[in-house]
Order: sequence, then C-alpha cells, then structure tokens
Amino acid sequence: MIAAANWKMNKTLGEARAWVEKVAGEVPAGVEAMVFPPYTAIATVAEAARGRLAVGAQDVFYENEGAFTGAISPTMAGDAGCTYTLIGHSERRSVFGETDRDIQTKLRFVLATDLKPVLCIGESLEDFDRGDTRGAVRRQLGVAFKDLEEEKVRGLTIAYEPVWAIGTGRSATVIEAERAGSAVHEVVGRLYGEETGRSVRILYGGSVTPENVRGYLVTAGMDGVLVGSASLDAASFVALMQQAVAS
Ligand code: PGA
Repeated sequence: MIAAANWKMNKTLGEARAWVEKVAGEVPAGVEAMVFPPYTAIATVAEAARGRLAVGAQDVFYENEGAFTGAISPTMAGDAGCTYTLIGHSERRSVFGETDRDIQTKLRFVLATDLKPVLCIGESLEDFDRGDTRGAVRRQLGVAFKDLEEEKVRGLTIAYEPVWAIGTGRSATVIEAERAGSAVHEVVGRLYGEETGRSVRILYGGSVTPENVRGYLVTAGMDGVLVGSASLDAASFVALMQQAVAS
C-alpha cells in the first residue's frame, strides 16, 4: 500500500530534514512511502531520504522552461530528486484557480516525462450533498483523460479526495470511500475497458489519521492514502504507516 505525506506549505529545511531522519528508517515492509515537500525542501528531502522514501512535487507546470514566473517544470522537479508529482490537488483548483482543462494539459505533459503523476480528484460539498459524487468523478476524469491513450492511463495513480473532507477533520465514511473508489474503477473501465479500469491505483485522502487509516485500506479496498495534517508530525506518520499494515 501507498502512504503519501503531502506537507503543503509547511516546513523549513531543518524541519524537513528532521522529519526524514525520523521517518525514513521506519517504513514497514509492504508500505511504499512517498513525501510531497514544498519546492524549497525537495532536494534536501531527497538527499536525506537516500531512496528510502519516494519524493514528489506538489505541482508542476506544463512547459519545460521559459517565462513562467513562480512555476517549476517536471524536468526541474526530477532533477531535484522527484519521481512523482501531484496534479490537480483541490487546493490548486480552489486557491489557485486551476481548471479541469489546466489539469488535462498538465497530466498529458507530465505523462510524456519521467515523472509519475498522482492525479487528484474529488467532489465538492455541493456535489456530495446532491448525492452526485459519481457524477463529479465522471466529469473530472472525463476532462482529465480527454484524447489520452489507454496505455497512458493503465496503472495510473488517482487520489480520490472529497473536497469537504480535506483538512476539515470530517473524513469520508469507509462506505463513501468504497463507493467512490468503485466509481473511479468503473468510469475508467467505461472509457478504456474493464482491465484498465481495474489497473488504476486509488488513494483516499481527506482527514486520514492513524486511527481511521485501516478502514480505508482494509474495508474500502483503497491502494493507499494521501495524508495532509496527520503527516506533518513524524511520529504520527510513522504510527499511520504501522497501523496501515498491522494485522
Ligand atoms: P488532510 O489533507 O489530510 O489534512 O485532510 C489531505 C490532502 O489535502 O491531501
């Protein structure tokens, strides 16, 4: 299973290094640990991790170089030590105004590089209250995958993060997560065939804690979790990984 720590806009270099020193030696067998530091800490984290944790960017732009103030490219992220990048995190959508079309362009661009994308989707509170989670998943994936070849989608990692559950302490129930996970497999299956639908890896994100992580992995059948708040403290993230594989 995947345990991914999304630090968002947190941690100085010293704090980042201290976290890696506490976490990197504690990854249990069966866990693929990933960390998404802010850009400033990527190289420091990659160096300290020495391959024991995969490192990812929280976002990248869809050009390799040029006059794009404030942006970094997939090549630059890779050069600094990243093997992954998030694409379309809900805070990129809501705070920075990224649209489904931007995310489509980024996904296509990143898939042509060596970085592996983690595509983030999830319904708004409005969609959720209307009982339209499946519809939101279908709409977001429909735009993100427009004209994308099947081989690009096979085995892709998709993070399902209901917007109302991110950073709120109100996590989705295991049943809600399971339903959304099967909606993702089904939507991808309709677009690309059942086998490809089954091949995508799904992470649940939104107020995951050491206490609730097992439900998502064991009962809801998720392939992993994307963790914000509960990943900032090294001991909490280690506890979460231990719970994830506890028998
Ligand atoms: P949270 O954030 O765990 O604090 O809800 C998750 C995320 O945004 O990836």
